[in-house]
Amino acid sequence: MIYFDNSATTIPYPEILRTYQDVSNKFFGNPSSLHNLGDKASRLLAASRKQIADLLRKEADEIFFTSGGTESDNWVLKGIAFEKAHYGKHIIVSDIEHPAVKESAKWLADQGFEISYAPVDSRGVVALDQLANLLRPDTILVSVMAVNNEIGSIQPIQAISELLADRPTISFHVDAVQAVGKLPISAYLTDRVDLASFSGHKFHAVRGVGFLYKKVGRRITPLLTGGGQEKNLRSTTENVAGIAAMAKALRLTLDKEAVALPQIAKMKTIIHDELANYDDITIFSEVAADFVPNILTFGIRGVRGEVLVHAFEEHDIYISTTSACSSKAGKPAGTLIAMGIPDKVAQTAVRISLDDDNEMIQIEQFLTVFKQVYARMKKVR
Ligand SMILES: Cc1ncc(COP(=O)(O)O)c(C=O)c1O
Repeated sequence: MIYFDNSATTIPYPEILRTYQDVSNKFFGNPSSLHNLGDKASRLLAASRKQIADLLRKEADEIFFTSGGTESDNWVLKGIAFEKAHYGKHIIVSDIEHPAVKESAKWLADQGFEISYAPVDSRGVVALDQLANLLRPDTILVSVMAVNNEIGSIQPIQAISELLADRPTISFHVDAVQAVGKLPISAYLTDRVDLASFSGHKFHAVRGVGFLYKKVGRRITPLLTGGGQEKNLRSTTENVAGIAAMAKALRLTLDKEAVALPQIAKMKTIIHDELANYDDITIFSEVAADFVPNILTFGIRGVRGEVLVHAFEEHDIYISTTSACSSKAGKPAGTLIAMGIPDKVAQTAVRISLDDDNEMIQIEQFLTVFKQVYARMKKVR
């Protein structure tokens, strides 16, 4: 099997699954329980929070556990909107955000908030001047992702931080779900960032666990009320095993980054350069400093993305249409449409997303299969 769909989800590291199992066995107490089993679980929870904070060079009380990227994004959009509604009702999100942000924004629009969409240029990068023009005195939140999940463009978080430097009343949220292990931390967690979303399964932890970074002192309304966990901001019994496994996965991922990234970049470049030889292949992602080294999105003219996905699947090679969410819905990638690419071309897009467990031999095998698939597609087009 060749798994090239790591932006949809990664394969959990075996040691992460062992940690998950060990913690489930040995630390099964409810961290809120008063007895020593609860205390043991509570201490492990605190240690995991501290480990994550240390790895990101933040404070432990700035980390709030959630069920993943979608919950973190929903929490920020709705939680900040409710918290600050008395102050203003204008929110800016980029036009290429994940549905977890965009759909939350749409929902807020139905509740009387006003949403502006910051456009991107033809390369899928947020246009700073246009974002600046959207800012208003009643703007309460700006939400821009660090790395686009569909084509891998890196967004100018540092420049947006500078733009917002003298506007302290605006909360700045970064969806960092696709950035972990792919960018230096300082590129997505600048000092100006107030909130950032993370998802464990994108960096080899288990599903259903993630976290929100919330800068100390920033206020947010909870979405989940109940027993008062997470400092009364996110009630429900904590997933201690998942959280401990995620802390370890974050450490492993960041430890591997320096060695893994150049290798991943090399693999992407080889595929990119080979595909660039074909006249009827459109490449949507670049090999460039403002693109992550692991994502390569392309299409064969006249061939719908899902046809290509299934053609590779027959060879036990797993790629995807540009995002797991749009693929089942059969919708063209929102990012490509926002870039001004016509629907018909956008519908051809498929995404290869690499990770540190891919090997060079798989690239060779992929390219061999690619030639066969391409020849077959040419016949049926
Ligand atoms: C940029 C981005 N944000 C949010 C999410 C949602 O994360 P989760 O699957 O943990 O809910 C994803 C998942 O693909 C993503 O790529």
